[in-house]
Amino acid sequence: MKKIVILTGAGISAESGINTFRDANGLWEGHDIMEVASPIGWENNPELVLDFYNKRRSQLLTVAPNQGHLALVALEKNYDVSIITQNVDNLHEQAGSSNVIHLHGELLKVRSQFDENLVLDWKEDLHLGDFCEHNSQLRPHIVWFGEDVPMMDLAISITEQADVLLIIGTSMQVYPAAGLIQYIQHHTPVYFIDPNPSITPSDRLTIIAEKATTGVPKVVNELLTI
Ligand code: APR
Repeated sequence: MKKIVILTGAGISAESGINTFRDANGLWEGHDIMEVASPIGWENNPELVLDFYNKRRSQLLTVAPNQGHLALVALEKNYDVSIITQNVDNLHEQAGSSNVIHLHGELLKVRSQFDENLVLDWKEDLHLGDFCEHNSQLRPHIVWFGEDVPMMDLAISITEQADVLLIIGTSMQVYPAAGLIQYIQHHTPVYFIDPNPSITPSDRLTIIAEKATTGVPKVVNELLTI
C-alpha cells in the first residue's frame, strides 16, 4: 500500500466554524498570540489563558467535521494514511480518520504543569486549583510558542516515508511544522489545498487554490482513481 501523509492546519477546520489564527490584524480571537499561547503568558496571567482555552474547548464541543475532514477518511480504503495536524481540535478523529498525530497538542486534554507526561482527558472548564494527583496545577495540553514539539521526530520519520504529501489549510509560517515538507523524497508529489496558498511553486507541486470543503474531495477523488 502506498503511503499518503497529510499535513493540516487551521484552514481545514475553518468551515466547521473554528477561526484560523492569523486574521488581518494579527490577533487571535482578540488576543495577542503570545498573551494566550506562550509560557510567559501563562506565568503572567494564568486565568486569562485558562479562560481562553475554556472558550475554545466548549466551542469545540459544538462543532462538527466538514467535507474536508470527511473526504480524507475515504483515502484509507486504498492507502496507508497518516495525518499530521497542527490543529488542537479533534475533528479528524470525529470524522473517522484512524491515524492522527497532533503536533501542537489537544484541546480535550490537560496535563500537569510539572510533568508533561501526566496527561488527562478533559471536557470541562479548567480552573486554577484543578490539580493533578501530585498536587500540581493542570494546564492545557497545548504546545505553546517557545516550547518543544515532542511529536516532531515521529512526524519527520513519517514524512520521510511519504509516497504522496497533501498539505491543507496552513499558512506554513510556524516552524518546525512548516519545515516538514523538506523531509519528503525528491520525487514525492505534493498537493497544496488552500484558498490563499503561500508556497513556492515547483514541478512536483500541484496547487489547488480552493477551500477545504471543495478542494479536498477533488484531490481525494483523483488519488482514489489513479
Ligand atoms: N479551507 C482551507 N484553507 C483555508 C480556509 C478554508 N476554508 N480558510 C482559510 N484557510 C487557510 C488560510 O488561507 C491560511 O493559509 O488556512 C490557513 C490558516 O493559517 P493560520 O491561521 O496561520 O493557521 P496554521 O497555519 O494552522 O497555524 C499554524 O500557528 O498559531 C499557531 O499553533 C498554532 O497550529 C497553529 C500554527
